[in-house]
Amino acid sequence: MAIIAKNCPHIKVTVVDISQKQIDKWNSDNLPIYEPGLDEIVKKYRGKNLFFSTDVDQEIRDADMIFVSVNTPTKIAGIGAGRASNIKNCELCARKIAEVSTTNKIVVEKSTVPVRTAHAMNRVLNANSKSSGVTFQILSNPEFLAEGTAVKDLTEPARVLIGGNQDEGGLAAIQALVDVYANWVPRERIITTNLWSSELSKLVANAFLAQRISSINSISALCEQTNADVSEVANAIGTDPRIGPKFLQSSVGFGGSCFQKDILNLVYLCESFNLPEVAAYWQQVVTMNEYQKTRFATNMIKKMFNTVTGKRICVFGFAFKKDTGDTRETASGTIIKIMLEEAAKCAVYDPKVTRDDMLLEFKYTHGIDHGTHERLDDLIMTETDPYAAAKGAHAICVMTEWDEFKSYDYEKIYAEMVKPAFIFDGRNILDHAKLRKIGFEVYAIGKTFEDVGISQV
Ligand code: UDX
Repeated sequence: MAIIAKNCPHIKVTVVDISQKQIDKWNSDNLPIYEPGLDEIVKKYRGKNLFFSTDVDQEIRDADMIFVSVNTPTKIAGIGAGRASNIKNCELCARKIAEVSTTNKIVVEKSTVPVRTAHAMNRVLNANSKSSGVTFQILSNPEFLAEGTAVKDLTEPARVLIGGNQDEGGLAAIQALVDVYANWVPRERIITTNLWSSELSKLVANAFLAQRISSINSISALCEQTNADVSEVANAIGTDPRIGPKFLQSSVGFGGSCFQKDILNLVYLCESFNLPEVAAYWQQVVTMNEYQKTRFATNMIKKMFNTVTGKRICVFGFAFKKDTGDTRETASGTIIKIMLEEAAKCAVYDPKVTRDDMLLEFKYTHGIDHGTHERLDDLIMTETDPYAAAKGAHAICVMTEWDEFKSYDYEKIYAEMVKPAFIFDGRNILDHAKLRKIGFEVYAIGKTFEDVGISQV
C-alpha cells in the first residue's frame, strides 16, 4: 500500500486493522516490521495520501477498492489440520464489507488463498449485502514480493497478476486495477487471467521456487558422500539458460511464512480433488526440507563426538533469511529445538531478531512454551554481540546468510572457543579455507574437505 501511495498521488490509501496497537505502531516513528527502504516511504507519504486507521467501517464505506490482506495460516485443528489454509479471516472481511457497504466495491484478494476462495467470498458478499443495488466484483491479485527485497520487488515487479471474472463487470474491475498498477508498472508486465488461474498461480509459483531449493538440497546430501561440491554443481547446471542460476543456493533448509504453508495447501487441494499422485509429488518438497534440517543437526551432533549435552553452541542467525527480522518457520528454530532436546546450551545472535520474537516462534511452530518450559532460559540465551555469543562455545552454526557474518574476526573468535572449535556453515557463506587455516574444524552443506583429512562419509 505504501508503494501504491508513492506512485499514485491521486489515490488515497488507507490501511485499516482492528488492532489499535498495530495501527499505533504504523503511525509511530518505529514501524512494526523491518524492511529495507520501507521506513522512508511510509514516513514520506503518511498523512499525505497514506493513512493508518482502526475506523474499519467508515473506511470501507469510503473506498472504491478494498484489498483483503489478512493472514491465512495453516489450520491447526479440524479437517485438513496441518495442511489446509484457514480462510476464516477472509470470510470475516467479506461479511464486514457486505454489512457496511453502501456503494459498489471492487474487492481484491491479496492474501494467499486456496483456489476458489473468491467463489466463497462472492457468495458471502452477495448473501449479506444490506444495501440493495450494491454490487461487488472480486479480483485476485496475489503478491509475489520476497521479504528483505519487498520495496524493490514492488517497485520493479517481474509481473503483476490480476485475475477476475471474464464477464463485463469482471473485465471492468480488472481494468480498474490495471489502471492503478499502470502508474508505475509497464503494461506488458501486468498479466490478466481468470480468477482461478490467478489464485492457483500464486501457490504454484511458491511450490516451484521451493522445489528448486529442495532439489539442490537433495543433491547436497549426495555431494557430501561423493566429494562433489554442491556450489560447483549449482553453478554448472545454473548456467544452462533453461535451468537458470537463481534459487539454487543449497542451505540448511528453506523457511518463511509462505513456502511450506503454500505447498501444504497445494497438497491438500490435490488430495481434495482426488489427485493423490500429484499431492505426493509436491509433498516431497516439504519432506526433503525437513530431512535437510534434521540431517544438518544430526551431522552436528555426530561430528561433536556424538554428544552435545551441556555444550555451548553459538548460533549465528535466527531470521529465516537475511535482511529481515521475520522468524516464521525458520530452519534455525528447528536446529535449536533439536539441540535443546539434546540438552545443549544455545547462544543465539541475530542482528534483527528480538528474544521475544524468537520465543514466539518456538511457541507457535514447535510448541515450546517459554512460560512452562522450566529450562528454556537456561538452555537458550540471546546475545547482542556475536563475539559474546561465540565465547566459550564448542561450535558455531551459521543459520542465516547475514553479510556481517562473513567479516567477523574469526581469529579472535577461535581464540575464545573450546577446542576443537567447530563451525557448521548452514549457508555456505564463510571462507572455509581461511577458517580451516585458523584451526577450525569446518563442515558445510554439500562439501567435503579432504585436504585436512576430514571426510563426511
Ligand atoms: C517467497 C517468494 O520468493 C515470494 O515470491 C513470495 O511472495 C513469498 O514467498 P520469501 O519467503 O520472503 O518469499 O523469501 P525467499 O527469498 O523466497 O526465501 C525463502 C526461503 O528459501 C528462505 O529461508 C531462504 O533462505 C531460502 N532459500 C532461498 C534457499 O535456501 N536457497 C535459495 O537459493 C533461495
